[in-house]
Amino acid sequence: MNNQDLQRWQELDREHFLHPFTDHRELAARGTRVITRAEGAWLWDATGHRLLDAMSGLWCVNLGYGRQELVAAATQQLQSLPYYNSFFQCTHPPAIELAAELCAIAPPGFNRVFFTNSGSEANDTVIRLVRYYWSLLGKPDRQLIIARRNAYHGSTVGAASLSGMPWMHAQAGLPIPGILHIEEPYWFGQTDIEDPEAFGRHVAGQLAAAIENAGADKVAAFIAEPVQGAGGAIMPPASYWPEIQRICDHYGILLVADEVITGFGRLGQWFGSQHFGIRPDLMSFAKGVTCGYQPLGGVMVGDRVAEVLVAQGGEFFHGFTYSGHPVACAVARANLRILREEQIIAQLQDRLIPAFARRWQKLGTHPLVGEARSVGLIGALELVSNKSGRQRFPKALKAGERCRDFCIEQGLVMRAVGDTMIVAPPFILDEAQLDELVDKAWRALDLTQQALGVAAGA
Ligand SMILES: Cc1ncc(COP(=O)(O)O)c(C=O)c1O
Repeated sequence: MNNQDLQRWQELDREHFLHPFTDHRELAARGTRVITRAEGAWLWDATGHRLLDAMSGLWCVNLGYGRQELVAAATQQLQSLPYYNSFFQCTHPPAIELAAELCAIAPPGFNRVFFTNSGSEANDTVIRLVRYYWSLLGKPDRQLIIARRNAYHGSTVGAASLSGMPWMHAQAGLPIPGILHIEEPYWFGQTDIEDPEAFGRHVAGQLAAAIENAGADKVAAFIAEPVQGAGGAIMPPASYWPEIQRICDHYGILLVADEVITGFGRLGQWFGSQHFGIRPDLMSFAKGVTCGYQPLGGVMVGDRVAEVLVAQGGEFFHGFTYSGHPVACAVARANLRILREEQIIAQLQDRLIPAFARRWQKLGTHPLVGEARSVGLIGALELVSNKSGRQRFPKALKAGERCRDFCIEQGLVMRAVGDTMIVAPPFILDEAQLDELVDKAWRALDLTQQALGVAAGA
């Protein structure tokens, strides 16, 4: 790689490539980082700078880069059947086998899968499915879907509507009708209630209030991520999910778990719902199903909904050219095989998750960190100007962004959501790499502290 290549790519990128979730004027001023190679947990950019990828790509490359079994599965499938659809009474072995394998690892009561290409499409499918389900039951007025503020469910029109991000809505006249948002269980960032468990019950109670307010006969479903990812790695207090489950059961509304980041091992179980004891009716998934080596998503459809759909439904007018794409399904099967045969999820539980949690907690002693929290292999650090009072830096100081840039300088990919720093490392880190992750993060926090001029121990 020489400098001319890099300059040329950066110029072409600036001229032609519109990036997702990007301010292009700012990007043009700062320039892009061109990633050219990856192996295991490491990325290299075009200048040769090596980065520990503590975000697993975008919460997806859970087994790390360079797994040859996944490459081989894609290659073999491309050679034998690169594409066929599953419309018009057709099907093919990779999608059939994968559907059965997903049902085998899902909690009891999940026996059907609808395939999409992404998490956003999976959540759009959820909207279609839950409304269709209630109309098949003769209750077409049950249209309302309750979601949460600061949730992220994707960027298509439906999924962005479910997402609780007002700046996304403002750009596109969203949400679509029939979607309502309640408060999120973000104790550190939101509340004056000192006891996190009391806070968990309080925000869960908003679901009951919203249902009562709308009328239970108007509500189709509640959708939530077991742990909010893009919103800032928000981990609900222990009291939250049992109360949400109780309320959904009480009113008979469908409970949808968005498992796009929590599925396939990230919380030390196949699905995040199992970690929290949630019994969802539907689960959307994507990302970790193929480890990001191929685009694939879908919805696990529980028996309550599937039986109505199959027994009473006419044609469900929904699907995509690439629903259940054979190459993506073949890669997903190879990925699930590795997870099963190498007993990766059991190892996460026994070894990596506790080792990660211990080290992550230590970052909580840094003067800039108001809270260090983790669940499974997701970690968050709240940057504060005053450790004792959950006091934030003025927004204009861009503490999180600065910290993220120092991380990159140190050779670490950590993401900033405002002033919340988040990681979701791959499942393949060894103890030395875990130490390296935390050392680099600590050094980046030191540099941020110096840049912000905060007195140590403040
Ligand atoms: C919880 C959750 N749901 C849905 C999505 C959207 O998935 P995709 O980007 O594959 O459309 C994401 C993406 O980050 C996500 O984190």
